[in-house]
Amino acid sequence: MQHLLSLKDYSKEQIEQILELAKDVKANPTKYAEALKGKSVVTLFEKPSLRTRVTFDIGVNKLGGHAVYLDSQNGAMGKRETVQDFAANLSRWCDAIVARVYDHQTLVEMTEHASVPVINSLCNLYHPCQALADFLTISEHFDDLSQVHLAYVGDGNNVTHSLLLCGAILGTTVTAVSPRGHNVDAQILKEAEALAAVSGAKIRVTDSLDDIDGVDVIYTDTWVSMGDNTPLEQVKEIYMPYQINQALLDKTGAKKVLHCQPAHREWEITSEVMDGPASLILDQAENRMHAQNAVLLTLMKG
Ligand code: CP
Ligand code: NVA
Repeated sequence: MQHLLSLKDYSKEQIEQILELAKDVKANPTKYAEALKGKSVVTLFEKPSLRTRVTFDIGVNKLGGHAVYLDSQNGAMGKRETVQDFAANLSRWCDAIVARVYDHQTLVEMTEHASVPVINSLCNLYHPCQALADFLTISEHFDDLSQVHLAYVGDGNNVTHSLLLCGAILGTTVTAVSPRGHNVDAQILKEAEALAAVSGAKIRVTDSLDDIDGVDVIYTDTWVSMGDNTPLEQVKEIYMPYQINQALLDKTGAKKVLHCQPAHREWEITSEVMDGPASLILDQAENRMHAQNAVLLTLMKG
């Protein structure tokens, strides 16, 4: 049995298979309409969600299964009962657990006590389902991921970490551009570099937008992630030079734009770019469902 806490636990072949399966699920939904018949998935959220909650719920439904949603009151592990008891009880009823948590350690603890696959639907360190959907979206526009330069611009966060790891495994060039002091986690960067050494990927981290050119896809995310109560206003001055706008697209040569959403329009990204011809942002949101369905089919096999 395999969990999905971080993509670093997956091989290039496994990720490529998930992306291929996602494409097939997207193209041939009727073929998979009963694939999870009689199976149940619990999705629990310690933090808010629109895309993840809805895409897992509707996604499981499209595969013929049943999804049970636990909100932040009822899915608050460690409060009413321990993470251990939560995971052990859920395992007696459902066939997979999808969890969005504050602390990655909660997921690790869940896997120690769950007898069904645990899927990370965002934690402080990673957002693997997002990265799979992102690389699925990129691969719909670029045939060879080893020839793609993806530049992530903004706060070095959970989304950045998963993009770096996924790119490193798949052989993609990924540059993370963040203001000084807001860089990605040093340990995760090391892990991505080690994976890149195997695949031939180029992984770079910089604080200067002058360091990036020849960009195919440019990507950003919120400047302040869930769980951090810093008001956006307070970091505006630091991050505004890193805003994704038409001038940055022109400067870097970026042909496509991604944002995991929720977006703060006119902050990390302008509406002009978000709604413009280079934007793949809604395809990316749709692809959350197809990528996750491929993950569910892979992990719930048998
Ligand atoms: N991108 C993403 O995970 O969106 P939600 O927080 O709305 O689920
Ligand atoms: N980095 C963001 C992603 C939201 C989908 C957060 O963790 O809040």
